[in-house]
Amino acid sequence: MDQIFVQGGKKLRGSIKISGAKNSALPILVLGLLSNDTCVVQNVPNLQDINTMKQLLKSLGVEIRFEQNKLFMNLLTLSSYKAKYDLVRKMRASILVLGPLLAKFGKAEVSLPGGCAIGSRPVDMHLSALEKMGAKIKIEDGYIKGMVRGNSLKAAKISFSRISVGATENTIMAATLASGTTFIENAAIEPEIDDLIEVLIKMGAKISKTKPGCIEITGVKKLSGFDHTIMPDRIEAGTYAIAAAITGGKLELIDAPNNNLKALIDYLRKIGVNIVKYSDGIEVDAPEKLFSSNLTTEVYPGFPTDLQAQAMSLMTISEGVSSIEEQIFENRFMHVSELLRFGANIKITGNKAIIKGTKNLNGAQVMATDLRASSSLVLAGLRAEGETVINRIYHLDRGYENLVQKLSQCGAVIKRVKKN
Ligand code: UD1
Repeated sequence: MDQIFVQGGKKLRGSIKISGAKNSALPILVLGLLSNDTCVVQNVPNLQDINTMKQLLKSLGVEIRFEQNKLFMNLLTLSSYKAKYDLVRKMRASILVLGPLLAKFGKAEVSLPGGCAIGSRPVDMHLSALEKMGAKIKIEDGYIKGMVRGNSLKAAKISFSRISVGATENTIMAATLASGTTFIENAAIEPEIDDLIEVLIKMGAKISKTKPGCIEITGVKKLSGFDHTIMPDRIEAGTYAIAAAITGGKLELIDAPNNNLKALIDYLRKIGVNIVKYSDGIEVDAPEKLFSSNLTTEVYPGFPTDLQAQAMSLMTISEGVSSIEEQIFENRFMHVSELLRFGANIKITGNKAIIKGTKNLNGAQVMATDLRASSSLVLAGLRAEGETVINRIYHLDRGYENLVQKLSQCGAVIKRVKKN
């Protein structure tokens, strides 16, 4: 298992090109299932989660070629409606194939996504929306087994009890081939949903957003293939913005989607970081001393839960007392016990963390627990005095393309080492 070694204390300087968005690429790859044509997806990040999705689609019969961030899919060979345990267990987003498979085949079998380090993360909302559209669903032998009478899903009025990105995506995809007009209320409005809708419209789907959080989808008989370029990753961009801030450095983040990063930019400015927005990116310039502030994670356009752990690392060296309230996921404070190893001062009560800033952190041996928690440890290591060793870094490979290379080119002393 590989490890990352960081020699902290270097101010980062230079520029980093932001990769395509993982959370946009995953559902867009799944979209191919709705067509019978060739689909081309460009600017796909080369990540472990993308690899898992590729394997899953291949296991359903899809022919895939992936060359230099460009992915070609031939859907004519699609032949199976069963998403097996071995692949689904690796990535929760695999549940996204359920809606399209039901829409396409009138039946689907998808292994139940396993538990996850950041909470129980149920899929009840995905299932009840599909049931409303006429699917009969049962859980048997660890699989979600869905069947549609007459093979065609029917339109429905779906009002989600809370906002879920994945359940919104699954429902939109399923509704595109259902008979009639589906109305979704309390839908997620994350930028990744807009990207998905844009591609579906290219494929011939009839979708309109009637007001924020309300989506209307009129089913069509057939969808065509598409060619689409994935938008830049707002969470990757946000992570590197925090890397500049935590090291007191200056980074230009090329292609950072500044319109989608408002909550983070507002936060960074509030604590003393200078940020200049350009049409194709941002420049982040941090002073030596940063101030404390409070954050609450919220659905878009609020502060993203996927930047919560990284923001907490920054708070550990910001002067004064900061707080974070995590409202999206229960149990998303796994990084706290690891941050304490750097000498951070953090106390947790329920879903709230109180972080008292210290002058500096000390390098430590730590263990990555989930994707974003892992990046918070890299950030702490970049700031800390001395050496940090991060174990279980396979989590990072799920979501950060060329992380070590991108940071090294800006002056970080960081390397990846194979451990036997
Ligand atoms: C997506 C993102 C993830 C991000 C999250 C919140 C992808 C691949 N992943 O995950 O990076 O952290 O949005 O922005 O895009 N919930 C239920 N029942 C359900 C579904 C969700 O109770 O059926 C709950 C979840 O447990 C969670 C909340 O709703 O507490 C939001 O989860 P959701 O938006 O669905 O997250 P994902 O789509 O899994």
